[in-house]
Amino acid sequence: MYALLKPLLFRLDPETAHRLVFGVTEGAGGLAGAAMSVVSSRPDPVLETSVAGLAVRGPLGLAAGLDKNGSLARFWPSVGFGFTELGTVTALPQPGNPKPRLFRFPAERALVNRMGFNNDGAEALGERLRAWREAGWSPGQPIGVNLGKSKLTPLDEAVDDYRKSTAWVADVADYLVINVSSPNTPGLRGLQDPEQLAGILAAVLEKGEGKPVFVKLAPDLDDEGLLAACEVARTGGAAGIIATNTTIERPGIPDVGPGGLSGRPLRGRSLEVVRLVAEEGGLPVIGVGGIESADDVEAMLAAGAEVVQLYSALIFNGPELIGKIHNELARRVRESGAATFDDWRAGLRAERP
Ligand SMILES: Cc1cc2nc3c(=O)[nH]c(=O)nc-3n(C[C@H](O)[C@H](O)[C@H](O)COP(=O)(O)O)c2cc1C
Repeated sequence: MYALLKPLLFRLDPETAHRLVFGVTEGAGGLAGAAMSVVSSRPDPVLETSVAGLAVRGPLGLAAGLDKNGSLARFWPSVGFGFTELGTVTALPQPGNPKPRLFRFPAERALVNRMGFNNDGAEALGERLRAWREAGWSPGQPIGVNLGKSKLTPLDEAVDDYRKSTAWVADVADYLVINVSSPNTPGLRGLQDPEQLAGILAAVLEKGEGKPVFVKLAPDLDDEGLLAACEVARTGGAAGIIATNTTIERPGIPDVGPGGLSGRPLRGRSLEVVRLVAEEGGLPVIGVGGIESADDVEAMLAAGAEVVQLYSALIFNGPELIGKIHNELARRVRESGAATFDDWRAGLRAERP
């Protein structure tokens, strides 16, 4: 299906294509969800696993940023993801950066974006999810909410900004993510510094209603910075680390101005960060960055990730990719003779040189 639509969508500018797909899917509402659940069923039960005590249907989840406002929250589980992350949302609704702010590089299978957290605000997301849950919606998988700082909030008031957002969404989220790693909000990445991060983490935990809290890190931190952030996360009570966000490096990508690079060129660096954080960070890791195949997932798991996420590959390959990767992983688990996904993952790590 996506193979038929892609040439048309790729003739449109990326944001128009995004709006079109979201508009049609949202308009079709429950019908689209129901139809999708017939054609692309849930992951093979052999793939059931967990991260930081959170049971997921399969190891591949949707990364933050695609569905910032959760408008398709009811749709993603039926695409075949094992878990879904919504957001980034901020305390203040905001329009994001001027367009153009999203660029595709099909030959490199990469995206560059400087969206700048365009979103309706954490309160609106909370209300939307609450209304659906109260009406009986049960996603059957974890729904995470990723939180960022509002652009207009001064950096020295960041803690309060995250606290407000958390209070608006905690009751309807299964896990929360502190995003201090997007490159498109001035000063945001400075909040990865230990002192700043400690304050934000304490505030999110205070209002988080006991939901697991993850910290999402940038691939542009050096080893020392990464491990310092992990130390604060671990001692401060975070459940895990998400590694990584987009990079400000541009290996071989034409210049389109500032922004974060994602997709295939990010894969190597994300893998390195996952390996370091898993080995020395002392917390469970969700790996993300450049994943587009079962081999890529396997490499992330071998490097120490518990589960993984993707975004960019969905744009280049369409939603069919999710079922394809999960099916291939299920085949590998069964073929290995391992009784469970967790046993298979443990075997991958043990085999590593
Ligand atoms: C257009 C776009 C918008 C994104 N927005 C967010 C965001 O709002 N919050 C966030 O934590 N990550 C955001 N990301 C980063 C992704 O969640 C992910 O960490 C990164 O793209 C690497 O994964 P990928 O190579 O599979 O895309 C965004 C990525 C893209 C491409």
